[in-house]
Amino acid sequence: MIQDTVIYLIGFMGAGKSTVAKVLQQKYGVQLVEMDETIAAREEMPITDIFATKGEAYFRQKETALLEQAAAKGTVISCGGGVAMREENVRLMKEKGIIVLLRATPETVLERVCNGTDRPLLNGNMNLEHITNLLEGRRPYYEQAADICIDTDGKLPETIAQEIGENLSKKNLH
Ligand code: S3P
Repeated sequence: MIQDTVIYLIGFMGAGKSTVAKVLQQKYGVQLVEMDETIAAREEMPITDIFATKGEAYFRQKETALLEQAAAKGTVISCGGGVAMREENVRLMKEKGIIVLLRATPETVLERVCNGTDRPLLNGNMNLEHITNLLEGRRPYYEQAADICIDTDGKLPETIAQEIGENLSKKNLH
């Protein structure tokens, strides 16, 4: 049962993690932890300001600390795009639950994130070349961490949530 595990949504910025996590929360009546939002609330400043004033390493420590605290059964955790880059994070997620990778092409990512200003790794570099390079460098980490992979291009959040549900039931987790 999904209520008996933790679902970790991982993937690149703009893959749809936050939106799909909300649909899963509604669909299965589970708890939702939105990592970026939680960290920003705890630090009382937006992610861009955390990066600018305290540095990325500090933010990454906060991510790992939150990951350790948030793993209650019956929770969907919408991870920040960099969470799966750290080995200890992946170990923790694998130990506690199921890792679902949401995939998107660089073109789709750009389309979804281009109007935002809240992603320090993209600000000032909002173009296809930068996104492609970053995504290609991260792809092996995402793929290696994932228990379930879902392509999201051209799909509605509800369809993606449905596909996640089907994959979980194949694993007898639905
Ligand atoms: C990051 C992704 C962001 C946020 C931070 C760093 C990354 O989260 O955690 O800006 O390293 O990919 P989203 O994937 O929710 O945009």
